Parts: sequence; C-alpha cells; structure tokens
Amino acid sequence: MSEILLSRQEIGQLVHRLGRQVNERFAQVTEDPVLVVGVLTGAFLFLADLVRTFEFPNQIDFIRVSSYGTSHESSRRIQMLGEPTVSPRGRHVLLVEDIIDTGYTFDFLLRYFESQGACDIASIALLDKTPRREIPVHCDFIGTTIPDRFVAGYGLDGGGLLRGLPDIIAVD
Ligand code: IMP
Ligand code: MG
Repeated sequence: MSEILLSRQEIGQLVHRLGRQVNERFAQVTEDPVLVVGVLTGAFLFLADLVRTFEFPNQIDFIRVSSYGTSHESSRRIQMLGEPTVSPRGRHVLLVEDIIDTGYTFDFLLRYFESQGACDIASIALLDKTPRREIPVHCDFIGTTIPDRFVAGYGLDGGGLLRGLPDIIAVD
C-alpha cells in the first residue's frame, strides 16, 4: 500500500500560491520575457501547471541533469545530459525544479545559470526534503517541505515509473 503525501487538490493549491508569488516577483519585468527553465524529467508537470498561472511574458525551455541513476540515493555528482536550447546570457531566468533533496543538483543548476551569464536568477521548487540537505542552497519559492521519504507521482519517478500519477505518494 502506498500512502498519499500530497493529493492533487493540495498540489493545485500549492501551485496557485506559488504562481501568485512568482507573478509578484516578475511583475516589473516587461522588457524581455522571463526564461522559465524546467529541470527534466521530474519538473515537467509542475512547470506545465505553473506557467499557466503566469501573468508576465515568458519563454519556456528545459535542462536535463541526472544525479540518481536508478537508485534512490544521490550520486552527488551531477551530470549535464541536455543543455538549454536558449542562451540564458543577460536574461531573467526562473529555474523550476521538482524537489530539493541533498541540494547537489540545485547547487549545480544555480552555478550553471550564473556561469552562463544570466542577469537575474529566481528559483522555485515544489518540494523540499530539508532533513536530507547536505549542502546549503537558497531557493526563492518552495511549495512545501516534506519528511525524509522517497516520493513519486506528479512528474517524480520511483524507479523510472509513476511519473504520471496525479497525486504525490510515498514509495519507501
Ligand atoms: P539532490 O541533488 O539530492 O538535491 O536531488 C535532487 C534530484 O533528485 C531531484 O531533481 C529529483 O529528480 C531527484 N529526487 C530527489 N528526491 C526524490 C524523491 O523522493 N523522488 C523522486 N525523485 C527525487
Ligand atoms: Mg529533478
């Protein structure tokens, strides 16, 4: 039996609250569309729902990184598997991640966009597994913190599967 940690209704409420916060953050940015970059694969559904709440001009791109392979444990070595197709240089960037766990992936991504010359980087993660943090990272907007459980659904995978579930479940 798997336990529902966040129902689809709760996820919907989180996404709408986050959308309001991000709209405030970018309310002044009108000269140049915000480059919204989702982290594949886990953030694809979160990004899809989130961008539909945005009231500012935006351009959508994706980046693919990997730290897990097939196990539930971070390798702490982040691999770039697919760079964004749009250059972040001089752009307002919003980094959209599904979950922050040890922090290695998020740290890598923030450094990447800095090194690529983004002029302004905002970041958002739907879930934050704070008890497992190994390196400090700053994230501007967080949906909710969760306990040290391995979760799947709403884009997140358990062993490569379950990404299509509308709720977020604990699979450990
Ligand atoms: P970190 O580098 O340890 O912070 O790991 C972050 C990445 O690992 C996220 O982008 C997720 O793709 C993945 N991840 C971490 N925890 C979970 C989980 O509980 N379920 C599914 N994926 C996870
Ligand atoms: Mg991810």
